[in-house]
Amino acid sequence: MVGIALVNKQRIKNNFGKSAVTYDKYAVVQKEMAVDLMTHLKKPRHEFSNILEIGCGTGYLTALLANAFPHARIVALDIAPEMIAIAKESLKGHETIEYVVSDGENPSFDTAFDLIVSNAVFQWFTGYIEPFKRYCRLLEPEGYLIFNTLGERTLEELRYCVSTLNSENKLSQASINLPSKKAVLKALYEAGFVDPVVNDSIKKAYYASARHFILAIKNTGTSGFSNQGLAPGGIGIEVFKLIRLYNRYFSDNRRVFASYHCLIGYAKKCRARPGGERAVSINYRSRD
Ligand SMILES: C[S@@+](CC[C@H](N)C(=O)[O-])C[C@H]1O[C@@H](n2cnc3c(N)ncnc32)[C@H](O)[C@@H]1O
Repeated sequence: MVGIALVNKQRIKNNFGKSAVTYDKYAVVQKEMAVDLMTHLKKPRHEFSNILEIGCGTGYLTALLANAFPHARIVALDIAPEMIAIAKESLKGHETIEYVVSDGENPSFDTAFDLIVSNAVFQWFTGYIEPFKRYCRLLEPEGYLIFNTLGERTLEELRYCVSTLNSENKLSQASINLPSKKAVLKALYEAGFVDPVVNDSIKKAYYASARHFILAIKNTGTSGFSNQGLAPGGIGIEVFKLIRLYNRYFSDNRRVFASYHCLIGYAKKCRARPGGERAVSINYRSRD
């Protein structure tokens, strides 16, 4: 299966809802990812006119999109109403943006889009293939799906610490099952996209201490990574042990670091053949 094994939608929605007011201050990596994503958007075309953004959050990428494509209609969708409320407030005056509170795994629209875009969201999905198939259907012929998501090496340092404490029976099981680059590429092919490309890179984020890192995770809504949770609240008092371990193992010049495995996907919808099935060539390809 591609995607996260343990997905609790209500928990994800609540965590992001609660972190909506602190998100912008702490979402340094997510903002960097959004800027990276923008550099890919102008490659296929200079203009898009109908854009669907999945998981708009507080509207950071939405603002970049509105400035880059001022004439486009932009539908900004998110599962957490609190996130949408902040996006609406901060993007007041942008008449081309419409907001929708909905589950981005299964969006329903009457009109087709020429671009579906998403930054740092799909790692919260139950799987990749089904949503990708739905996006393929929602795209105009020649439309694009361009996104960033988090891959299997994300927060590997934190997982190392959690599993060390787990093996001492100090913590409840906390697991993340994030996809590899190859798995996301395979999902794009299976959904029917033509010649998709997935690139990956590791971004290292630095924090003053493990406590600051854990706080950043909590304040960006990331503590819902599994049913059991990874951050304070999910692991209670044992968080002090976790912080001590993290500071000991993953410090560099007095700062701690955390890895984010960024997967950037770029896919074009197949043009439907008159009266027939779409031709899909299965030839997995990834460019480094
Ligand atoms: C890490 S934030 C990214 C927000 C924004 N894209 C950015 O770049 O700052 C993830 C966002 O995805 C939303 N989200 C998570 N699961 C979702 C789902 N199934 N459908 C729609 N939005 C979802 C969360 O509410 C949150 O706003």
